[in-house]
Amino acid sequence: MPAIAIIGAQWGDEGKGKATDLLGSRVDYVVKFNGGNNAGHTVVIGQPDGTSEKYALHLLPSGILSAGVTPVIGNGVVIDLAVLFEELDALIARGVDVSLLKVSANAHVIADYNRTIDKITERFLGSRRIGTTGRGIGPTYADKMNRIGIRVQDIFDEKILTQKVEGVLDLKNQILTKIYNRRAATVEQTVEELLAYAERLRPMVCDTGLLLNQALDRGETVLLEAGQATLLDVDHGTYPFVTSSSATAGGACTGSGIPPMRLNQVIGIVKAYTTRVGEGPFPTELEDEFGEHLRSVGAEFGTTTGRPRRCGWYDAVIARYAARVNGVTDFVLTKLDVLTGLEKVPVCVAYDVDGVRHDEMPVNQSDFHHAKPIYEYLDGWSEDISGARTFEDLPAAAQTYVTTVEAMSGARISAVGVGPSRAATVVIHDLI
Ligand code: GDP
Ligand code: IMO
Ligand code: MG
Repeated sequence: MPAIAIIGAQWGDEGKGKATDLLGSRVDYVVKFNGGNNAGHTVVIGQPDGTSEKYALHLLPSGILSAGVTPVIGNGVVIDLAVLFEELDALIARGVDVSLLKVSANAHVIADYNRTIDKITERFLGSRRIGTTGRGIGPTYADKMNRIGIRVQDIFDEKILTQKVEGVLDLKNQILTKIYNRRAATVEQTVEELLAYAERLRPMVCDTGLLLNQALDRGETVLLEAGQATLLDVDHGTYPFVTSSSATAGGACTGSGIPPMRLNQVIGIVKAYTTRVGEGPFPTELEDEFGEHLRSVGAEFGTTTGRPRRCGWYDAVIARYAARVNGVTDFVLTKLDVLTGLEKVPVCVAYDVDGVRHDEMPVNQSDFHHAKPIYEYLDGWSEDISGARTFEDLPAAAQTYVTTVEAMSGARISAVGVGPSRAATVVIHDLI
């Protein structure tokens, strides 16, 4: 019966992959419903001999690592087919069973011209660039909305595929050659590149919306795993410094074909501090030694592009906003261990915008750009908390940090991350 969404509550990289893996053994399906290979979800799985295996997933849902779970790429995803098979082959080589994967016939595919246009557009934007991952995500979603996209199902009909590619290239080649001064893409090569994957893809493709609703009818559990996060959502994020998909709970429904009333639980993943990759406003950003400290202790370098992540203190205003936009029922507060050793830990409780206090996200984006954080300073702790497994195992100051942040953030905190591995989690309320 239950459909559960896992949503990023900040600007991404909150630890959604770890949370999905944590719940993986208790669910039947894990669905990626938005984004593409712009995502980077790291999962660390402890081995019986005490070592650990690290996986970085981009296009595939992290649930593919959980035995017996059916991983699904939903209709809301944009798929780079070369990346799909590279990722699958890399997992197969490591002994992961990927045979259950299902792919929506309605998902759109990323063609080479869209990767090119993504990168050149960024260059043309210059100082106004978004800092995209360069994977062709934005142009592919733009084509979808513009009704000139290529879908997975088109790949199984060469005639239709050729017609569609001809139509889209009539337009794209004008942009590539006349505006960007690039070589035109050819219909033959584009069609050939996409067709090359058809036979391997065919057995995976189905009506994933039907599959998932039938599973819910049977009483099975479906976990919806977001790529990106609330503040990167195309509608609810810091537009235009966002990704081009719906990364919030609403997107979990449109991107999977599961109706809103079937979503029982929304788990917001929120880091105990804040990070952001790429351009755009970030009120609590630290450009001093504290920022460096969070980046080095938290290993804050992008899983997808390797870029250093911008780091700052916890921002309760955006956590509250994410709780509201998504209807968060439970937060997982991740990476609390990274804050160990600080004397005082600032938490942003509101913003000062040109002398006016804002307790909620300012309605005007320019105000958000000028927002200065108003901090409350909480006591730090020096004890190593990586071995904590119950709330009582945490030192008093860390407990207070969790409960104070919870009171400000608009939903209960049901689990706390104290290290990268699955086991390094303090469960306060059972998540499923
Ligand atoms: P995602 O994109 O939301 O899945 O997050 P990423 O995988 O990009 O980034 C989160 C990083 O933090 C990964 O390297 C995780 O292994 C790591 N991580 C997750 N939870 C914790 C935690 O509680 N403590 C520590 N120290 N690392 C964590
Ligand atoms: P996960 O799922 C962090 C950012 C990019 C850029 C903006 C637009 O790992 O949390 P795009 O290539 O999507 O058009 O880039 O969005 N971005 C992410 N930042 N984590 C991610 O994914 C991201 N996916 C995209 O850095 O600022
Ligand atoms: Mg990530």
